[in-house]
Formats: sequence, C-alpha cells, structure tokens
Amino acid sequence: MSAVLLRASVCLLLLLFLHRKLAASANGGDSFTYSGFRGANLTLDGVAAISSGGLLVVTNKTTQIKGHAFHPSPLHFRNPSNGTIFSFSTTFVFGFVSEFTNLSGNGMAFLVSPTTDFSKALGSQYLGLFNQSNNGNSTNHVLAIELDSIFNPEFADMNDNHVGIDINGLKSNKSQSAGYYADGSGLLNPLSLRNCEAMQVWVDYDGQTKLINVTLAPVPMAKPHKPLLSDTIDLSSVFLDPMYVGFSSSTGPFLTSHYVLGWSFKMNGVAPDLDGSLLPLLPCPRSKGKSDVLDIVLPLASAGLVLITVGIIVLLVRRRIKYAELLEDWELEYGPHRFSYKDLFEATKGFRDKELLGMGGFGRVYKGVLQTSKAEVAVKRVSHESRQGMREFIAEVVSIGRLRHRNLVQLLGYCRRKGELLLVYDYMQNGSLDKFLYDEAKPTLDWPTRFRIIKGVASGLLYLHEDWEQVVIHRDVKASNVLLDHELNGRLGDFGLARLYDHGTAPKTTRVVGTMGYLAPELARTGKATTTTDVFAFGIFVLEVACGRRPVDPITFGEELILLDWVLENWRKGCILETSDPRLGEEFVVEEMELVLKLGLLCSHPLPAGRPSMRQVVEYLEGNAPLPELSPTYLSFSVLAMLHNEGFDDYIMSYPSSVATATSISEGFQKQMGSSAF
Ligand SMILES: *[C@@H]1O[C@H](CO)[C@@H](O)[C@H](O)[C@H]1NC(C)=O
Ligand SMILES: *[C@@H]1O[C@H](CO)[C@@H](O)[C@H](O)[C@H]1NC(C)=O
Ligand SMILES: *[C@@H]1O[C@H](CO)[C@@H](O)[C@H](O)[C@H]1NC(C)=O
Ligand SMILES: *[C@@H]1O[C@H](CO)[C@@H](O)[C@H](O)[C@H]1NC(C)=O
Ligand SMILES: *[C@@H]1O[C@H](CO)[C@@H](O)[C@H](O)[C@H]1NC(C)=O
Ligand SMILES: *[C@@H]1O[C@H](CO)[C@@H](O)[C@H](O)[C@H]1NC(C)=O
Ligand SMILES: *[C@@H]1O[C@H](CO)[C@@H](O)[C@H](O)[C@H]1NC(C)=O
Ligand SMILES: *[C@@H]1O[C@H](CO)[C@@H](O)[C@H](O)[C@H]1NC(C)=O
Repeated sequence: MSAVLLRASVCLLLLLFLHRKLAASANGGDSFTYSGFRGANLTLDGVAAISSGGLLVVTNKTTQIKGHAFHPSPLHFRNPSNGTIFSFSTTFVFGFVSEFTNLSGNGMAFLVSPTTDFSKALGSQYLGLFNQSNNGNSTNHVLAIELDSIFNPEFADMNDNHVGIDINGLKSNKSQSAGYYADGSGLLNPLSLRNCEAMQVWVDYDGQTKLINVTLAPVPMAKPHKPLLSDTIDLSSVFLDPMYVGFSSSTGPFLTSHYVLGWSFKMNGVAPDLDGSLLPLLPCPRSKGKSDVLDIVLPLASAGLVLITVGIIVLLVRRRIKYAELLEDWELEYGPHRFSYKDLFEATKGFRDKELLGMGGFGRVYKGVLQTSKAEVAVKRVSHESRQGMREFIAEVVSIGRLRHRNLVQLLGYCRRKGELLLVYDYMQNGSLDKFLYDEAKPTLDWPTRFRIIKGVASGLLYLHEDWEQVVIHRDVKASNVLLDHELNGRLGDFGLARLYDHGTAPKTTRVVGTMGYLAPELARTGKATTTTDVFAFGIFVLEVACGRRPVDPITFGEELILLDWVLENWRKGCILETSDPRLGEEFVVEEMELVLKLGLLCSHPLPAGRPSMRQVVEYLEGNAPLPELSPTYLSFSVLAMLHNEGFDDYIMSYPSSVATATSISEGFQKQMGSSAF
C-alpha cells in the first residue's frame, strides 16, 4: 500500500515539476522551449495532434491533408518606439516519415503569421500556407521557412529536397538543396529530407542588418557556423503586430507523417538549446528483412523434409507463372518505379470486376489499394504485344513520374508482363470530366469550377510541352482524359500513351492516333503529332467544357453537330455566347465565357501556324495578355467544309461519338487532305 502511495506521489511530483517547467518556459511571450511536446498547450488544427509520446504530429500518415500547430499566444516582433522588427531566433528538430522509401511529401514549414486561420489554404504543394488566389500576395504578411520534398516547377522549385525562405508565397526568395556546410572543410554535405532522419533547423534574424540565416544539420550535430541559406529581408514591411509562430504541413499523394520533436524560440536573443535527452524518438519503419522465400525454404530443406520442399517448389513455380513479369536490363534503373505484378494483383483483389473503374481508350482501369502503403491507386492494363517504342515510352513516363504537377495525374510506376503493360496512377476520386459534362445523374459543374479546370489543364499541358526537360506531346487531350481530384481540380491523364501505338509496322502506312473530333487536320495528313496538334485538341476540349457538348454531337438520328463549326458559325453571326452550356443558364462571367469560346476557336485554327502556344494560352487565360482577334483566314478556310465530306462523315457515323481511339483513318480521307490547298 505505502509503496503504491509513494509511487503515486513521486509521479505527481514529477508531473508538477514538468508542468512548472513547461509553464515557466512558455510564459513571458518572448521565449519558450518545448523539448518534446507532452502536455504542451499549442493551438492545433487539421490533423495536427500531440502524440502520447510527446511528438508534435503536424500531419499523420494520410494523403492529401494539412495540419497546423501554433504557440498559443501571439508575439510582439515590432519595437513600439521606432517600428523596427526585433531580432529573433528559433530552432526546432523535425523528421519526415514516409511509407515509400524514397518518396515523401509534400513537406513542412516554420511560419510567422498574423493569423492562425489557414482553413482556406490548400494542402499538397501549397503546404497548408496559401491557395491559388492569395499565393504571392503581400497582404498575407507571412514568413515561412519551407522544408519541401516535392519538386514543383510551378513555384520554381529547384528540386525535390530543398529548404527555402518564402515571403507571402511559395516561390522562394532563396532556396538551397537540403544540407549543411561542414565547419572544417566548408563543403556542402547533402542531407535527405525523406530519409526518416531527425534534423535540426535554426532560423536567426538580425533586426539591425535585416539578415535572416537558416541552418540545417542532422541531430545531434552542433549548429554549423555557416548557414545553409542567408538573405537580407526587411521584415518590417512584412510583419504585422502581433504575430503567431508555428508550423504548417501538408501531404500529397504519399502517406507521409511530418513531425516536430522539439522547439524553442527567443526574441532579442539566442533560442535556448533543446535537451536532446528529452526529445521523443522519430518512429521510423523498421527496414525490411531478407526475402520470405529463403526464410521458408532453407529451414525446411535442412530439416530434410524433401517431399514438402518439392511441394513448395511446385507451388512457387506455379506462383511464378501466375505472377510472371517481364524485366529487362534497361529497366533496372527504374527500380522504384517498377511495381511487382503480385502487388498490383493483390491491390486490385485479382483485377476483379468490382474494382473496375472504367474502360479507357487504351484498356481497363481498376481501382486498387496498395497493401504496404494503403495508398489508393488506379491501375491501367494496356495490352501491348510489340516491344517497339516500349523503352522510350517507359523512359518518358518514368521521367515524368519523378515530378509532380498538380494538373497531371501522377504516374507512380509500372509493371510489364507478356503482352501487357500495367500503369499505376494516383486514384482520382471524382472520375473523369466527361461524366460531369454529359451524365445527367452527375451534378452540373458551375462556371468557376469549369474555368479553373480549363486553366488547370492548360497549365498541365504547358508543363508537358515546355517546362519539362524534354518535350512531351500528350496526343490525346479530351474531356474523358481529364480527371477530377477530390477538390475538383482538373488533371490530365494518359499523357504519351498514344505514342506506344504510333509506330506503324510498314513504313508506308501512317497510323494516326488520337480521338476523332479532336484530331488536327494536318495530323490526318502527315500522321505526325506535334505540340500544335495538342493545342488543336485542347481548343476542342475547351469548347466542350464551355458548351457542354461533345466534339461531334449526335443531335438526331444520323445527324451530327460538329461543335467547332457550330461555335464558329455563331461567332460569325455575332452571337457566340449562345453556344454556352444551357445548364449553366446565366450563371457565368460573360467576359470569361467569351474568352474561353474564342480561345477554343483560336486553338482549333485549321492552320498550325494560326494556333497559339500553350504558354500564350496560359497568358490569355490568366489575363496577362489580350486574346488576339481571330484571323480572317479562319473565315475563308475550306477545311471545315471539307470535314463534312462524305468519307469523313461515314467514318464518324460508324463509330459512336465517344470513340476512344482511332488507329487509322481511311485512305480516302488522307487523299482528300493530301490534295487540299495547304
Ligand atoms: C490522422 O488524423 C485524423 C484526424 O485526427 C484521423 O481521423 C486519422 O485516423 C489519422 N490517421 C492515422 C493514420 O493516424
Ligand atoms: C492555452 O493557452 C491559451 C492562450 O494562451 C489559454 O487561453 C488557455 O487557457 C491555455 N490552456 C491551458 C489548458 O493551459
Ligand atoms: C530602434 O530602437 C531600438 C531600441 O529600442 C534601437 O536599438 C534601434 O537601433 C532603433 N532602430 C532604428 C532604425 O532607429
Ligand atoms: C533516392 O532519391 C535520390 C534523389 O532523388 C537518389 O539520388 C537516390 O539514389 C534514391 N535512393 C534510392 C534508394 O532509390
Ligand atoms: C484563399 O485564402 C484567402 C485567405 O484565407 C481567402 O480569403 C480566400 O477566400 C481563399 N481563396 C480561395 C479561392 O479559396
Ligand atoms: C491581394 O489580396 C487583396 C486582398 O485580398 C486583393 O484585393 C488584391 O487584389 C490581391 N492582389 C493580387 C495581385 O492578387
Ligand atoms: C522577396 O521578399 C520581398 C520582401 O522583402 C518581396 O517583396 C519580394 O518580392 C521577394 N522576392 C522574390 C523573388 O520572391
Ligand atoms: C548569419 O550568418 C552570417 C555569416 O555566415 C553571420 O555573419 C551572421 O552573424 C549570421 N546572422 C545571424 C542573425 O545569425
């Protein structure tokens, strides 16, 4: 009895002591220390929480979420006598823990902000800090030190493993690959944010020189003398008074937890040291052991149970046939992007019909949940006999798979079997855009959403065309290849897939790949896909979204409406707005609708030279450049009339309007196009 009492009172004393220690260091406003967060009074939102072990979990192992944690009371950074910003110093220990060995994201930031309300901020690449409309706006008054493990070209990121100083937006004022300058040699030693390693950051601001230093080092290394990043920024034009300090984090497609282990802050002084012995441990997943096969086979064989061994070998062989894959030498470099067929088979519950999401132009698409990471994926099975083009194709998709763009459906990896290619993508909750446009059962998408989708697809396509290290031609831009994520953002899928089918066996036959109604006239003639043929298809897509009609819309039996012609006709008559989707009623911004419809016509110009580049398209859509007037050649051009010629119409009629893939176009049509004026 007395022993129990004694233990209880010791515990109580300890608790009291801890509480006093926390309280003592956390009050006074201008200095606090959290060596571990057990019992800490922080302002939390989103999924942020304090674990029983004392870890501050800013985001937990969930995809597409955000979380924030702030010191509960705001601090006065501004000197009341002359308005300058005080010097301050802060340090924290953090760690990212991801399900995938080398893929994590999106990241975390330390921030100083006038508000703790980030409910309107976006997750993913926005790190829970900003959204599309306020990113970069000086009314944000936010300083953030980002720790970013995803490469986002839209914010001019340098790579997928960097530290940046951000003022009011995600385009960093200064950034640098994660690492530290060794004190002795002065050499930059790289660090990986994704390796489940605890690391410490120091942020120091000198109010006199306006110099801000950011230093990173692995725990338990002492603070290196030379900071990783240094920049002169007058925070008096950024900060309001008072300001909150805290952390923001978001995840993207990968199951990642972002943790803070300890944190201290001091105004007008050096941040107190963190007590390493009190910091909680980072929960790293234990590394995988050796293969299961050896574990089973060796002990059994040594026990001399020959019969059972033979039985197991037979089983293994059958298993090998069931899960057989093709793997060639050149694929070894794609290591992390190769999925095993077995994993995909299990993820999709054996590709059972219940998991079927749809039948795309190139094959069936199944929903799956990866067993190890619990990530939701879409697995596309593309039947493919020939090896031709496979190597280039995989190199291309894998190289794109290394990057993220919020308007591209992320390719996570692939698997190859005999006669079959399996592509693994992020799962998109809201399915494809065409369903929303044409399926009566789906709610009507309002104009702001449609306009955002158009802008998004434009920026995704621009990225493929111009911003990646090699030009990627999509070849099949259309509403059914635009998928909608959980926030109804448009994301372009299936990029480059058409390329696989682009290698005609006999050199004389031109095989045109794409979808009827979206094919640029010259594509039918030359068979050569270019960025301008993509722009043409994008133009048709834009009209589709604005008008809510298919490119070739069957109005009555045997009669179609060619969308492009119809909009053009209405434009000539001066009533282009009448082509807007009747389901929108009057609920749209007239200027935007007009811009979009005219842009659709411009992009679908019959002559390639008459079409804008995707960079120009993005500028028009963002209002950064005025849309040029449609040229008079458009009016006189006969191609459109030609498209009504019999041969072509027959072709369209023999296929439903949602034809997935046209693998070749009749000789007759080619001849027609070949003998045309251009
Ligand atoms: C993450 O946090 C949310 C909200 O607190 C919770 O619903 C979810 O179960 C958590 N996920 C994991 C994997 O802990
Ligand atoms: C936490 O901090 C806030 C702000 O300082 C304060 O209002 C609140 O009472 C504190 N809660 C606890 C449990 O200490
Ligand atoms: C502002 O006031 C502080 C003392 O309160 C002083 O150290 C600092 O030099 C002053 N700065 C300017 C720009 O006057
Ligand atoms: C992890 O990624 C980095 C760069 O992104 C690369 O250099 C490294 O080889 C990768 N490691 C593994 C195990 O794939
Ligand atoms: C972006 O965030 C700001 C600030 O929280 C908010 O006022 C605005 O409505 C948000 N915009 C969108 C489109 O969510
Ligand atoms: C910045 O935000 C303010 C207020 O939210 C808004 O009035 C202004 O137009 C924005 N500026 C830019 C460049 O977006
Ligand atoms: C850097 O920060 C300043 C604020 O001091 C801001 O006005 C400027 O636009 C930023 N520069 C870049 C390149 O982001
Ligand atoms: C920032 O780093 C520079 C040199 O590396 C150093 O001279 C300066 O004192 C540092 N400033 C602060 C505020 O730590």
